[in-house]
Amino acid sequence: MTDPAAGRFITLEGGEGAGKSTQVVRLKEWLKERGHESVATREPGGAPGAEMVRKLLVEGPVERWDGITEALLHFAARRDHLRSTVWPALKRGAWVISDRFADSTMAYQGYGHGADRTMLGALYDMAVGDFCPDLTLILDLPVETGLARAAARRGRETRYESLPIAFHERVRAGFLDIAAADPKRCVVIDAGKDIETIAASIADAVGSRLGI
Ligand SMILES: Nc1ncnc2c1ncn2[C@@H]1O[C@H](COP(=O)(O)OP(=O)(O)OP(=O)(O)O)[C@@H](O)[C@H]1O
Ligand SMILES: [Mg+2]
Repeated sequence: MTDPAAGRFITLEGGEGAGKSTQVVRLKEWLKERGHESVATREPGGAPGAEMVRKLLVEGPVERWDGITEALLHFAARRDHLRSTVWPALKRGAWVISDRFADSTMAYQGYGHGADRTMLGALYDMAVGDFCPDLTLILDLPVETGLARAAARRGRETRYESLPIAFHERVRAGFLDIAAADPKRCVVIDAGKDIETIAASIADAVGSRLGI
């Protein structure tokens, strides 16, 4: 039985423009109303060293790295994020909400770029061990809708957005596959709806799955 006083680790996953960053803020507010202080963080990044690696991953030309190099960079950043931010916060009883986590590596590098998924699982075991999120919310929506939303907000971090539609379709199918394979941890949320409706679905999922 999980310690009711301990923190929980919640991850938000999904393709470009699915609304992850928007919903992290909403979920943090919702938890606060229920008396749970939380730390909002993101991947790649979420710690000073990991944010340096983020710049290598999200800026620059698409062909800069192959799938395996990307996966190694993601897991290096992830381990720093866990050690510097996530694990210490959970240890002191805070809840942690991460905007992307390891399912993004599996979906983008594995399903999207075709990196060997067994190899990605082995990298997870090495970098993360047997730790995993208490709950993963997979924000699902049509690829074109997500890319249009992301384009409307465009900044410097366009490296993944520049990939072809077929790549993003594989990523979407990958996330749905991951959710189907691990239904105890994952909940798929219809992210094509308006922001309030999605926030309510997420609150329902967190409430029912984590018992708050
Ligand atoms: N449900 C929604 N309906 C319409 N627009 C939305 C919705 N949710 C978010 N947006 C808008 O779409 C854009 C992308 O949202 P957001 O940045 O939250 O997505 P994201 O999943 O974090 O994207 P990325 O993967 O690129 O980081 C933002 O401009 C945001 O205001
Ligand atoms: Mg975002």
